[in-house]
Amino acid sequence: MSLLQTMLQTAARFLPADKPDPLIASHTYVGKPLDRVDGARKVTGRAPFTAEYEFENLAYAAPVYSTITKGRVKHLDTSAAKAYPGVIAVITPADMPRLKPPSLLDLMKPDKFAASNLPVFQDDTVHWNGQVVALVIGETHEQAQEAARLVRVEYDIAKSAVVFDPSKGVMPKDVMGEPAEIKNGDAEKALAASAVRIDATYHTPYYNHSAIEPHATIAFWEGDNLSVLDTTQFVEGYRNTLAYVFGLAPENVRVLAPFVGGGFGGKAGFWWNTVLAVAASKLVHRPVKLALSREGVFRIVGGRTIAEQRVALGADREGDLQALIHTGVTVTPSHARYAEQCTFPTRHLYKTKTLHVAQYVVDLDIVANTWMRAPGESIGTFAVESALDELAVELQMDPIDLRRKVEPERDPTTNTEFSSRHLIHAYERGAAKFGWDSRNRTPGGQRDGAWLIGQGVATAYYPALRIPGAARVRMNADGTASVFAAANEMGMGVATGQLQHAADRLGVPLHCVEFNYGDSSLPSSPMAGGSCQTISIAASVRAAVEKLQREILKLEQRHSGSPLKGAKFEEVEARDNGLFLAADPTEGATYVDILRKAGKPFVEAEASSAMPMESMKYSMASYGAQFCEVRVNADTGETRISRWLGSFDCGTVLNPKTAKSQLRGGIIMGMGMALTEAVLFDERSGRVMNPSLAEYHVPVNLDVPHIEILFNHIPDPHTQLGARGIGEIGITGVAAAIANAVYNATGKRIRDLPITLDKLL
Ligand code: MOS
Repeated sequence: MSLLQTMLQTAARFLPADKPDPLIASHTYVGKPLDRVDGARKVTGRAPFTAEYEFENLAYAAPVYSTITKGRVKHLDTSAAKAYPGVIAVITPADMPRLKPPSLLDLMKPDKFAASNLPVFQDDTVHWNGQVVALVIGETHEQAQEAARLVRVEYDIAKSAVVFDPSKGVMPKDVMGEPAEIKNGDAEKALAASAVRIDATYHTPYYNHSAIEPHATIAFWEGDNLSVLDTTQFVEGYRNTLAYVFGLAPENVRVLAPFVGGGFGGKAGFWWNTVLAVAASKLVHRPVKLALSREGVFRIVGGRTIAEQRVALGADREGDLQALIHTGVTVTPSHARYAEQCTFPTRHLYKTKTLHVAQYVVDLDIVANTWMRAPGESIGTFAVESALDELAVELQMDPIDLRRKVEPERDPTTNTEFSSRHLIHAYERGAAKFGWDSRNRTPGGQRDGAWLIGQGVATAYYPALRIPGAARVRMNADGTASVFAAANEMGMGVATGQLQHAADRLGVPLHCVEFNYGDSSLPSSPMAGGSCQTISIAASVRAAVEKLQREILKLEQRHSGSPLKGAKFEEVEARDNGLFLAADPTEGATYVDILRKAGKPFVEAEASSAMPMESMKYSMASYGAQFCEVRVNADTGETRISRWLGSFDCGTVLNPKTAKSQLRGGIIMGMGMALTEAVLFDERSGRVMNPSLAEYHVPVNLDVPHIEILFNHIPDPHTQLGARGIGEIGITGVAAAIANAVYNATGKRIRDLPITLDKLL
């Protein structure tokens, strides 16, 4: 824990309890399964992606990717490319403006938001196979692409390391701001003395986010003013980072991202493509579009690290944990230094006498790794939740009974109170609906012809964060309202959720409110990441609405005859398009009346949310129980998922329709992680061998059964609206639930993802 966190946590102990959010008790739109406000635009193709925008005078960029891993470019022959029809320029590092190298991802510092701190395209060195070594600018996308193929590159090849060797792991300084190692007691000794022991090693491959929309940027310069349309998850972070790299004032940079087609962390940190588009636009004095091909995404946008994790569990015969050891080795190049937090779930999930978690990293010459949906928790829960299942088998205990045994009263590492934790309730509701109790515990005990059938469970876990920000709310004289926040929409339905509670707080119909977002010039919002955007913006909108309503009340109270004369703000309620006395809802005034009497076209207020002290005071997370049924073909090893149920404890659900969709998306991504996805590197050259969706297999409709989602619907008393994030928890626990079900079906314990046919034969 950092010194700052320790200080805040100490201070938080003396804070009074948080004020409950009055909206939890009464609301009209919050909690309803409403359609997305942008749904019609999306399904009718009127919500364009960045690459679909066309502008006058637009030029198109196409990168040339290095075919060696490490070394330098000795000679670039660009003559054929330059001679190709429609080619405007072939840009090499020598042509580039001098740029500051970006700084590495830091959640709390929005100008530090690159996945790699390498200087972007500033010299002739090559750091990974696939790095950009030249950029062709053409009159059309096709001309630029074709000319890029004509660039001839000669290299000086240096020795490189591209094969993961976990024995080379070194402990990083910290892991996402937390200590790389925690020891409570002597876990190895307790393990050795335990009556029942599990000690296993789990492997996960490199994964790519594979968002449906590949990365794209359109850059425009007007003098020193830069505007960028980008596929980013974080308009403000990109704005600040671009300003830093290009040496501009942040107010001279504007980043727009109205609709983003999925990000999952791959569009959170800043990659070379955005810088290259901006630099190219400056060099050719034209707006430039750089739309990466799918191959381009695999070459220059990093994904989830390769990992090896050890989990060792020692228990007594009743299942009480005496030792819990979870160590992990991940890969991160020295220019990324991102140790994926695979041990984080283990720090907060289970009661144990002794605990040891530790993380190590190995440096390889590959593209920077980065956040990918539930970074850490997704692969971490694969290891720890598989191991718990192995322990349940050893104990001859039902795996849900084992989770009951090890359910802690307080956070096992921070010793703080849980803000709200009802994991066992989620297990029980899920078990009843799934029919868990009728499962045959003996592996191979259920068969349908050639198909072996099995069921598995695993815990889902993702921390609940909140990041401070701001919002602006405007009430217009006609009774309509507008909400403004930088915000990022990449498919989750951010506008719908924010409008639901904004309308409730204002006391106006949903269709009277609009949400303006996707623009870095609007009030500060966190990135769409860390499953925190919805409640973070909700806190800002709540603050802005309250400020606005106080101003509107003051305007009304200028009139001596007002029924609200003398009323305190706390005595007033927002309802029926205005402000009314809580004690007598027939007395009050509509917003239209108040603004008309005041002669104002609109009233506007901007406010910031408070520091997230609640996360210092409580252990805050969403929880869930994943239930899976698989059918494994005894002859071919083919695994099909036949049933899925996810039972979640994530507080108030703002919109069950969009929330279920979000969770299903996470679960489907987990199915890919478990069964089909893996980025394959050539062990000689470090080159990605399957840079396309034809060879990197994400699940398709036929791979996915109906996914049932249950919610506990227990509001968290310490969060905005009683809600906690749901963006990432869906993927957690999925791979373990599948591996556990495969074990139940076949008796084979697969500890190495993906679970392909060969591993089952
Ligand atoms: Mo998420 S991996 O924080 O976009």
